[in-house]
Amino acid sequence: MRTPKVVEFELTTACNYSCIHCYCNAGKTSKNELSTEEVKKVIKDLYESGVEIIDLVGGEPLIRTDIFEIISFAKSIGAKLMINTNASLASKDVVKKLKEINDNLLVGVSLDGHKKEIHELVRGAGTFEKTMRGLKNFLEFGFDVTILHVINKHNYKYFEEMVLFAKELGVSLYVDRFVPVGRGELFKDMLLPTKEMIKFVNGIIEKYKDQVDFFVEENIYGDECTAGKEHASILVDGTVVPCGHFRYDFKYYMGNVREKSFKEIWESFNPDILFNDCKECELFTKCKGGCRAFANQLGLSYDPIFCEASNNV
Ligand SMILES: C[S@@+](CC[C@H](N)C(=O)[O-])C[C@H]1O[C@@H](n2cnc3c(N)ncnc32)[C@H](O)[C@@H]1O
Ligand code: SF4
Ligand code: SF4
Repeated sequence: MRTPKVVEFELTTACNYSCIHCYCNAGKTSKNELSTEEVKKVIKDLYESGVEIIDLVGGEPLIRTDIFEIISFAKSIGAKLMINTNASLASKDVVKKLKEINDNLLVGVSLDGHKKEIHELVRGAGTFEKTMRGLKNFLEFGFDVTILHVINKHNYKYFEEMVLFAKELGVSLYVDRFVPVGRGELFKDMLLPTKEMIKFVNGIIEKYKDQVDFFVEENIYGDECTAGKEHASILVDGTVVPCGHFRYDFKYYMGNVREKSFKEIWESFNPDILFNDCKECELFTKCKGGCRAFANQLGLSYDPIFCEASNNV
């Protein structure tokens, strides 16, 4: 039986940043955004469906004016919550209030480089200082913080420095790979990493694995994609997809939490549809099919970064 371990819940597409890699093309509020009551109902539904971690994402979740009410509600029913944020709105007052209402909240702060120039290449001028200020506020108030780091063609070179930066701050490091979706698709020539770059990153992870607490996405270390098997994403209008990167592809829509319970949607989905011809390939047990969204976005049946049968990238 498949169990939903982590479900990302996109509370808004509104954002005060305009990152060039952003898969949801964040900026403006969507017309179909779920209301406060709908969000609470979905959180209860996810909790009752046995979801281990509900990960609040966006857009920028701290932009929602009801964010404290949402987080308090989740705490009151015992749901384990994480929030992914650019941290720019995490002033001392905001962080203090978050601590008061949910001291177990897990915090993921996105940082695309250990230095201003590297981070801002993706996230825009002035974002490094704002994000670092917010990150330090979270640490000061005793939150469990993870840096969310997305590997691209440019920042991979500085990955060792990024690891040492996380070590010095005493935070965990989540390592993910750029997938050309949304605004990111427009910048894919600039950002798409190659096989060699991902190999390089894995070498650094191996070197520091006993010194830093890593959470490594399977699209970096090369295990079988967990989309629809261990995790799913709920988009801003309630549409459920096996992974947030499938957001613009109707054929992978699993259902909508405005119409059905999450459990019903989860149980009626067959994740094998993500693998196209890969599962038939005799080399599947070796490469495991790589990142299915990456393959899909490139219009391929295989992920060139892990495919053992192609000579691409
Ligand atoms: C969409 S953001 C939402 C939360 C918040 N605004 C932030 O930036 O952390 C969630 C995470 O997705 C990552 N992300 C955005 N676009 C991506 C892409 N095309 N490929 C991989 N990760 C991406 C971001 O870097 C961030 O860590
Ligand atoms: S990645 Fe996050 S901070 Fe950047 S534009 Fe998208 S939602 Fe906003
Ligand atoms: S599609 Fe890619 S990013 Fe999404 S869960 Fe699978 S490997 Fe990870």
